[in-house]
Amino acid sequence: MEISAVTGDIATMPAGAIMVGVLEGEGPEGEAAAVDQALEGAIARLISQGEIKGKQGETTVIYSLGKLPAARVAVVGLGKRAELSMDKVRGAVAEACRTLKRKGVEDIATVALGSGKPEIVPERSAQAITEGAMLGLYAFRNHITVSENNFHEVRKLTLVGGDETKAALEQGIARGTVLSQAANAARDMVNEPANFMTPSAMAEAALKLGRDYGLEVTVLEREQMAEMGMGGLLGVSLGSRQPPKFIIMRYTGSDRPDLDLALAGKGITFDSGGISIKPSEGMGDMKGDMAGGAAVMMALAAIARLKARINVMSLIPATENMPGGNALRPGDILSAMSGKTMEIISTDAEGRLILADALSYATRNGAKAIIDVATLTGACRVALGTVCSGAFCNNQELLERFLAAARDAGEPAWQLPMYAEYREQIKSDVADIKNVGGRYGGAITAAKFLEEFVGDTPWVHLDIAGTSMSEKERFHLVKGATGVPVRTLVNLALAMS
Ligand code: BES
Ligand code: ZN
Ligand code: ZN
Repeated sequence: MEISAVTGDIATMPAGAIMVGVLEGEGPEGEAAAVDQALEGAIARLISQGEIKGKQGETTVIYSLGKLPAARVAVVGLGKRAELSMDKVRGAVAEACRTLKRKGVEDIATVALGSGKPEIVPERSAQAITEGAMLGLYAFRNHITVSENNFHEVRKLTLVGGDETKAALEQGIARGTVLSQAANAARDMVNEPANFMTPSAMAEAALKLGRDYGLEVTVLEREQMAEMGMGGLLGVSLGSRQPPKFIIMRYTGSDRPDLDLALAGKGITFDSGGISIKPSEGMGDMKGDMAGGAAVMMALAAIARLKARINVMSLIPATENMPGGNALRPGDILSAMSGKTMEIISTDAEGRLILADALSYATRNGAKAIIDVATLTGACRVALGTVCSGAFCNNQELLERFLAAARDAGEPAWQLPMYAEYREQIKSDVADIKNVGGRYGGAITAAKFLEEFVGDTPWVHLDIAGTSMSEKERFHLVKGATGVPVRTLVNLALAMS
């Protein structure tokens, strides 16, 4: 899709459809009023008849029948004025674009929806529109070989504004494009099945990003992991025929020698549960158990493209979790890179074992802040559902910064407690710590396990088990991988620079 900004008047734009916004419970104003006039009051009439309510996500398509150069007018509901935000614009545009796509529209022109309020200056509106269109129209078609009859794609999106806003619109489009491309690249990686997206394929993808965006990428093999004592990652990989990879990506955006931020992402390319094998129903979804790894990988590429002025490292321990003849067993004890020993209660609690080594690697490299992202626990999905991710920390200040970035991205997260009492549940009789803390508070005891490996470094853990995949189309999300929390991480890095 080609997205651009032009100076002009929306009412005179030739396009398959033009988009104008209306607020819930209000009449057409600004550009919508001008378009309404050209349509001889059709928009105002539909509002007074209750056909157009202006609710966010509502799209009403009016055929212009020669009254305007554009064939259709999409009246996009933006919700209540008081609740207007970038997130509302992003979601509304996603819904509107899908509606128009289904009608075969290939060319859309739009105003800077929602702009005018201080919260949504034209630049932010343009960014939200770009993200709404690019994320909302995303489809994973890598393995579909038969072409659909009547297949249409939205090819062109034009943002129309006054002379004075064109540069701002272009900036918003540029940032929105980088963020959406990164999120969609992470979605692709997660949607890709495990026979394609192996640990080696993830490593190849990281090396390619390194070449494309000037990142320093190193991939550790088994021997090097053994030298470094990465017992968690090596242990989990034992049951698989696929060699594990420890992927290290560095972006240097500042002259200072500090490592400002380390991002660690769980890279289980398939989680069968291992010897503690999962029930077969829904097991296919476990191809997405590397969503955290994909997110930190693609976020780093975007951080480099946007030239954030900080130094960031992404770490992805990548392996399958399989029940092969050499597999890790319940009862086994592993020694992590930090030297701590870990008793295996369930081989299905594997994410924390591989992340332990990534967190040690980050602290050893002097990271000043660490964020890890993982599809870690079914318990988190039970606790918070699919609406928000679970957030945990040992440092409230870092968490607040993270949550602000998440809000801005429309990728909400909710903090869960880290009281010392929870630590009791992962005490082991035979090792320093055990990998399952019993039935209750599973998302929290998993976070307490990870906390053991970060020392005093400010750290945030994000459990995305409930948010990494969507069961349905909703606003900027489509069915399948969501790309959470790529845009949050990029926002945070930009805010830190
Ligand atoms: N990858 C799963 C968690 C998961 C579940 C992610 C559902 C996405 C959707 C993780 O490795 C796992 O299996 N966790 C276990 C931990 C338990 C054995 C303590 C779980 O949540 O059941
Ligand atoms: Zn897992
Ligand atoms: Zn598991």
